[in-house]
Amino acid sequence: MSQDQHEGERGAGRRGRTAADRLPGDLGRDELIARIVRVDHAGEYGARRIYEGQLAVLARSPSGPVIAEMHRQEMRHLEAFEDLIGDRRVRPTALQPLWHVAGFALGAATALLGERAAMACTVAVEDVIDQHYARQVERLGDDEAELRDTLDAFRADELAHRDTGLAHGAREAPGYDALSAAVKTGSRLAIWLSERV
Ligand SMILES: [Fe+2]
Ligand SMILES: [Fe+2]
Repeated sequence: MSQDQHEGERGAGRRGRTAADRLPGDLGRDELIARIVRVDHAGEYGARRIYEGQLAVLARSPSGPVIAEMHRQEMRHLEAFEDLIGDRRVRPTALQPLWHVAGFALGAATALLGERAAMACTVAVEDVIDQHYARQVERLGDDEAELRDTLDAFRADELAHRDTGLAHGAREAPGYDALSAAVKTGSRLAIWLSERV
């Protein structure tokens, strides 16, 4: 059984208290929530920067308005996590300056490969984020229903972004499989680091 399945099965599962069923060595409730807020704040910041990198190249292309709309939604997500960082007194990731540069670079680099490559980047990132949010929702109990609902709502937006990417020819991007795999690996590494650093 993979670790993800394992965690899912003993997650809060929409009942009980967050981290009430944790095993020795697992994070306590406060640290778990701090990690969730820290990594999601970092992720939404990175998402904002990816779309800004894409817009720097593609603002006047046919995809421009579609990318601009996704960027607007990421700004809303980011603002919500800015508030949570303050309200929950969570230290933001120390890697924010890195995500500032790396997010923009990823967006601009894929956009320079073409509109479909930019969309392939979006599909790959949002695929990882969808799984990431789903796992977090699974771990939050009824004592964190509000945060859980926020993550659920944002997850729906991210899935819509992924579908937008697919509808705009992501899969027809040259080298789709390699590009998708690279972006997913980078996204997972960014998540891992932002939870911890
Ligand atoms: Fe987002
Ligand atoms: Fe998104």
